[in-house]
Amino acid sequence: MTSETNAENRRPIRSYVIRSGRLTDSQRKALDNYGPLYLIEFQPKLIPFASLFPNESKLVVEIGFGMGDSLLEMAKQNPDSNFIGIEVHQPGVGKLLHGIAEHNLNNLKIICHDAREVFEHCFENGSISTLQIFFPDPWHKKRHNKRRLIQTEFIEHIIEKLKPDAKIHLATDWQAYAEHMMEVMQGISRLENSNGENCYWAEPDRPGTKFEKRGQRLGHGVWDLLFSVR
Ligand SMILES: C[S@@+](CC[C@H](N)C(=O)[O-])C[C@H]1O[C@@H](n2cnc3c(N)ncnc32)[C@H](O)[C@@H]1O
Repeated sequence: MTSETNAENRRPIRSYVIRSGRLTDSQRKALDNYGPLYLIEFQPKLIPFASLFPNESKLVVEIGFGMGDSLLEMAKQNPDSNFIGIEVHQPGVGKLLHGIAEHNLNNLKIICHDAREVFEHCFENGSISTLQIFFPDPWHKKRHNKRRLIQTEFIEHIIEKLKPDAKIHLATDWQAYAEHMMEVMQGISRLENSNGENCYWAEPDRPGTKFEKRGQRLGHGVWDLLFSVR
């Protein structure tokens, strides 16, 4: 798979903008002190993820964990699973590193890089049990819709990296993006909607996220989607 490019200047179309938020002292220290322990350096080649954890457990991958609170909670609650978080936002990476070290977790590691490139190069086929993407940037404006992470080509590529029966869990607080997600996911024949055709997941089993709480303060709804690989 090649990343989509902007036809005029051949630059890849990114699903994110690097925000200029400053690192706090604690985030910077976490990057310096705990980065060598829990950060996996991106390289454009296969990474032997199983060998990076003490146990060969099921692998859960989250794209765009933001500040990482919900991913940290899931890793704490599920010591029998291994977690990889992929995020480009350095303050969030620093915050999550701090949390991993504070709770001495050995089942959560981070890659600070564009997930599309990570999926292009680093995962073996059939290696992931769950993929989760919670509240990806909605890119509201029509001319920006092409920057949305959930696109048929990307999901079809990701499916190759998932085990048979693996789950994909998506959530958004933007109705138009929820409908777009539903159309993309149901349009892929290897995926089955675990909640029945056109149905969202009413009571998802995940902790709340920072972005979700912000949306709720603004009066937004929440739509979760769960699909399994046939
Ligand atoms: C709207 S925020 C949601 C964060 C978090 N999931 C939450 O609910 O609080 C989306 C996050 O996805 C990250 N992101 C977007 N595209 C990405 C990509 N291609 N690779 C890695 N991270 C990405 C952004 O940096 C941002 O932190």
